[in-house]
Amino acid sequence: MKTITDLARARRELHPIVMIAAYDALMARIVAGTEADAILVGDSVAMVVHGHPSTVHATLDMMAAHTAAVRRGAPDLLVVADLPFLTARRGVAVALEAAGVLMQAGATAVKLEGVTGHEDVVARLVESGIPVMGHLGLTPQSVNQFGGYRVQGREPADGERVRREAQRLEELGAFAIVLECVPAALSATITEERTIPTIGIGAGIGTSGQVLVLSDLLGLDAQFQPRFVRRYAEGHTVVHEAVNRFARDVRAAQFPAREEVLA
Ligand code: KIV
Repeated sequence: MKTITDLARARRELHPIVMIAAYDALMARIVAGTEADAILVGDSVAMVVHGHPSTVHATLDMMAAHTAAVRRGAPDLLVVADLPFLTARRGVAVALEAAGVLMQAGATAVKLEGVTGHEDVVARLVESGIPVMGHLGLTPQSVNQFGGYRVQGREPADGERVRREAQRLEELGAFAIVLECVPAALSATITEERTIPTIGIGAGIGTSGQVLVLSDLLGLDAQFQPRFVRRYAEGHTVVHEAVNRFARDVRAAQFPAREEVLA
């Protein structure tokens, strides 16, 4: 069973951490058989699987169902589940209740965005035995406040704020921090300053690890290719061609063949 202690050791030994955002049992089973360290049941599921325009639409029911599915597919992996939009802002009681639901669904830890204004929530979750992963920089639940998916922390004052927030998260007991879409120099500085691991996405090479969304690294969405995503497969083409080959076989009466027919 992978735990947060394994991530802490990886950070100490400078062994890069690999985290994959995935949402279902089948993909979790495949990831569990790879060299990845952890699965993030990201609230990006609201966009990737459910077709919503932003992560604001992820609900607790949605996150719990996908967390349970991922846990069934990956019984021994470290599974981090996102707390949905506004959960932390509704106060300690609501956040504890939601985190409890995700932990009972199979999460090892929860992730929440930001820290300023909900320090009490982070502290109480940690005190209650719930490992907390922070998320700073481009926090997608605030996309409407940012006016789009933009790099954060470029201005010195902004970068300073992100550094202070990372420090605060560590002080409050977070076990790791996702740094999303921040300048590489800033994420490298934060990583040097902190003892807990940083996991980057669009944050350069200087973090303790990297996370990508599985469907992005598989290239399943032909239209979505931000600069920070590397495609390790052309999944869209694979699916498109396979479905077309099936359609042609059906129409040519080539499927099913005799050996594919049940007696
Ligand atoms: O929801 C998500 O997939 C995430 C990652 C992009 C870090 O938060």
